[in-house]
Amino acid sequence: MAIDYNERIPNNVDLADNRRLKRALENWQPGYLNWWAEMGPADFDQADVYLRTAISVDKDGWAHFGHVKMPDYRWGIFLAEPEAGRRIAFGAHKGGAAWQEVPGEHRATLRRLIVTQGDTEPASVEQQRLLGLTCPSLYDLRNLFQVNIEEGRHLWAMAYLLHAHFGRDGREEADALLGRRSGDVDKPRILGAFNEATPDWLSFFMFTFFTDRDGKYQLASLAESAFDPLARTCRFMLTEEAHHMFVGDTGIQRVVQRSCELMKEHDTDDVAPLGGVNLATIQRYLNFHFAVSIDLFGSEFSTNAANYFTTGLKGRYREEKIEDDHVLSESSYGVAKLEGDAIVESDEAALTVINERLRDDYVEDCEKGMARWNRTLQEQGIDFTLRIPHRAFQRAIGQYRDTHFTPEGKKISAEEWAARQDEWLPSAAERAHVISLMQRVVEPGKFAGWIAPPRRGINGQPLDFGYVHLS
Ligand SMILES: [Fe+2]
Ligand SMILES: [Fe+2]
Repeated sequence: MAIDYNERIPNNVDLADNRRLKRALENWQPGYLNWWAEMGPADFDQADVYLRTAISVDKDGWAHFGHVKMPDYRWGIFLAEPEAGRRIAFGAHKGGAAWQEVPGEHRATLRRLIVTQGDTEPASVEQQRLLGLTCPSLYDLRNLFQVNIEEGRHLWAMAYLLHAHFGRDGREEADALLGRRSGDVDKPRILGAFNEATPDWLSFFMFTFFTDRDGKYQLASLAESAFDPLARTCRFMLTEEAHHMFVGDTGIQRVVQRSCELMKEHDTDDVAPLGGVNLATIQRYLNFHFAVSIDLFGSEFSTNAANYFTTGLKGRYREEKIEDDHVLSESSYGVAKLEGDAIVESDEAALTVINERLRDDYVEDCEKGMARWNRTLQEQGIDFTLRIPHRAFQRAIGQYRDTHFTPEGKKISAEEWAARQDEWLPSAAERAHVISLMQRVVEPGKFAGWIAPPRRGINGQPLDFGYVHLS
């Protein structure tokens, strides 16, 4: 029996030796599979998809490729290898031994952090459920499914922690993760960005670039956690997350490239009538997704974030590489602060602005993607520069919440915002145009007219490889 189960759920957590946990996860599994059947990629149950499956966490095992039907995918539980004698790297418990069990006083907070992270994983699968029907190529279809499958695995990762370390309330929370639905008025997902629709592939690429990248930074700070099972879980998730951001990064680059080609071929800036996406439209999509994604980092000034840090639950990005005392009780950190109508630079107690610091790391990372897309524009000889909007633009969380700023960071009135917002955010007509471009292309090696082919295939395969065998 144990061996049989291990074949169905690959794991490196000795599930076979822990009968109670094994039984709890077996009880959770049918609910998960029902959720996948109901909310996973629509109408592709019978398709054979060329997917990467983790069969172990070492270099040879974590990227194992083969064709598989998604409902038969072996979602596994993987934690990065333990670090012998690992010490807590920051906060009040700095230098102490990392925790293998949840300390009672941090139980509720840790559970909340894990649930909030866990909730985003199925949410994105739900948001992307219909995209397969309008895929621009088999290559892209495979990439979508790879992302979906791995978000499903990330849900397993968080459900495992809840089951293994939080007893009865952990089991209830793991069930609740299967009960909420992205965009549902009555039982929405926890975070705003995960209730937005992903109705087209441009949105999908923006989502995987900007919103999965928020995931990278959240996982990286949880990978520093004093709670060792959480740290090890997140460390392994990060290896998968890299591919999701690759999909977004290269996806946007390919749309930009195709738009440039159409512009040159037809000597016009307006490629919409030619079946392309205007560069100005790409900029507006980018504005929207950036703003929604930086909201996920929370308020600039946050006592919760300070407490997570001090108690050792959540560190900073690459905590151990930072050169300071890792306690921060005496340190300051410079942030932008809204004072009346002006944004001023202000030195604040470092502990109170942990979220903003993580947002800084994130924005810096986004700028690198931006530079790559602008290089494509340059190579194509097109005089246009994509820009990350100012972080005060279109915010729903934090100090800018009740204000209006332009993407350049100029404060404007509500009236001006109402009159001009279509300059900065995709209009309904623009969104409708992008959606109208989404025509399904499934002939091997063919790509939709609004996107350039990628530079190379997946896992060394050619572009006309049968990435998905549709039945
Ligand atoms: Fe994820
Ligand atoms: Fe992801």
